[in-house]
Amino acid sequence: MDPLRNPFSPGAGSPPPELVGRDPILEQTRILLGRTKLKRSEKSILLTGLRGVGKTVLLNEIERLAKAEGYRTILIEALEDKPLGPLIAPHLRTLLFDLDRMAGAGDKAKRGLRVLRSFIGALKVSVGDVTFGLDIDPQEGTADSGDLEIDLPSLFVAVAEAAEERKSAIAILIDELQYFTTKELGALIMAMHRIQQLQLPLVLLGAGLPILPGLAGQAKSYAERLFGFPEVGALSEEDAIKALRDPALAANVVFEADALFEIYRVTKGYPYFLQEWGYQAWNLAPGSPVTLQVVKSATETVTRRLDRNFFRVRFDRLTPGERNFLRAMAAFGPGAHRTGEIADALGQKVTSLGPVRAKLIRKGMVYSPAYGDLAFTVPLFDEFMVRAIPDFRL
Ligand SMILES: Nc1ncnc2c1ncn2[C@@H]1O[C@H](COP(=O)(O)OP(=O)(O)OP(=O)(O)O)[C@@H](O)[C@H]1O
Ligand SMILES: [Mg+2]
Repeated sequence: MDPLRNPFSPGAGSPPPELVGRDPILEQTRILLGRTKLKRSEKSILLTGLRGVGKTVLLNEIERLAKAEGYRTILIEALEDKPLGPLIAPHLRTLLFDLDRMAGAGDKAKRGLRVLRSFIGALKVSVGDVTFGLDIDPQEGTADSGDLEIDLPSLFVAVAEAAEERKSAIAILIDELQYFTTKELGALIMAMHRIQQLQLPLVLLGAGLPILPGLAGQAKSYAERLFGFPEVGALSEEDAIKALRDPALAANVVFEADALFEIYRVTKGYPYFLQEWGYQAWNLAPGSPVTLQVVKSATETVTRRLDRNFFRVRFDRLTPGERNFLRAMAAFGPGAHRTGEIADALGQKVTSLGPVRAKLIRKGMVYSPAYGDLAFTVPLFDEFMVRAIPDFRL
């Protein structure tokens, strides 16, 4: 059928035609946004989930919600090896200028700019031209210690107080939070702790891989009392079918029931894969209805595409030793497996596999859902590993 009319949207952060199955999380967000404005404390929300489950899409939707509730928002994406300070400073600068321009009495926005000036001055790396236009004296003694865990809380408080003075509220949204260092996560957690104690109108909404709760807990043991970690996962069978059926119906196209079940069976309800299968099935179908036969040929196309792109880019970043480890792990199928079992399969000691395991966790390929367990962060990666290295002998 006409690719121009194709409603499906496979891609990183591409909004799906319909955001299915996320109502409980959106409701939790509405409560957080509403309560914060009323100065009632509520846990900040950090979404966690595997690659391609829809965290970025959800964070964008949450930003939209926050704006509709009257919040001023900042949306940033953490990157490997990019420090937090220089990443967030330019956004806070824009926000403080905005607050300063708003009508109202008080000088908290000006003070916020001075604190930001101090904060930037104490950063050990350059922030480009953020100081441009910041021809304001630093606030001596505030946010200028050079220790992020002291300076970031002072900065957040100054910004939130400026917002409060202007009867505004702030939502800071951060994607890929797992890329921050323990020190940076610790600073963010301490900043939010301070904000909660002072009941200031600032919320943090983040997203990251399933290792995030563990990292946050390592950074500060009280993180679990400050944050909720809702899991963004695969869609249920009913929701997965809805995610395919409804957008097609809106374009007067019907998927036959067995075609829908087949897509659910092969994708296991993972959002990114649902979009890929929906997209290819649409393009391959001569017309409505989309049949099981069409889906089966779409599976060949999609698998080839995923193996060449989505899975391949990750595979190419692995050393031979890491590939070997993952291939042995893949033999156990999807889900979590004991590191001990994998070591046994490779005929090695758990301790000698420690470095490979640590590297794979750092590369974001696997994570540990529970002590001694290991699982893939990319859905269906086990099946790919078996295809990539078919004649693997233990
Ligand atoms: N609720 C949903 N229903 C249907 N499709 C969805 C849903 N959420 C996301 N998608 C689709 O899934 C794909 C991946 O979404 P997104 O990029 O937000 O995932 P992610 O979790 O941020 O992945 P990554 O960890 O790789 O950044 C997109 O193609 C998007 O359209
Ligand atoms: Mg994402």
